[in-house]
Amino acid sequence: MSESRITRRKVVGGAAVTVVGVPLLAACGGSDSGGSGSGGGSGSAEGGPLVATSEVPVGGGVIVADRNLVATQPTEGTFKVFSAICTHRSCPVTKVAGGTIDCPCHGSRFSIEDGSVAQGPAESPLEEVAFEVIDGEIVPS
Ligand code: FES
Repeated sequence: MSESRITRRKVVGGAAVTVVGVPLLAACGGSDSGGSGSGGGSGSAEGGPLVATSEVPVGGGVIVADRNLVATQPTEGTFKVFSAICTHRSCPVTKVAGGTIDCPCHGSRFSIEDGSVAQGPAESPLEEVAFEVIDGEIVPS
C-alpha cells in the first residue's frame, strides 16, 4: 500500500479525542461521491452522526447497516470507522466479535483496530473512513 496516514488530534468540549484521517485513496483516481463504488448505495458515507461514542463497546464495534459503515473502539477512547462492505466480494459485514469485523458470505474477518485482514479469503483491508467526534457522536467527515 502506498497510502499515507494522517493522524491529528482534535479537542471537543474539553475532551481530547484522537482522530485518524482516511488514507488518501489516490489509487482510485477520479472516484467521486457521485456513485462509483461497488454496492450502488447512494449517500452512504455522509449524512450526520453515525453513532454515539457511548454506544460503541470497548473492544468491539457497531455496524450501521443503512450507512454501510462500522464504528469500532479497539481500546477505550480510541475510535475507528470503516466501510462495512467486505473487500472480497462486497457483501456487507454483519458481526463484530472477538476483535474482528466478520463477513458472513465466505468467512473473512477484519481487525477492529485497522481493518486489516485477520482471516481470508479477503486480501485487502476494509476501507478506513475519516470522521470527527462532535458532542459525543461519531460524524463521518
Ligand atoms: S464477500 Fe466477504 S468473505 Fe466473501
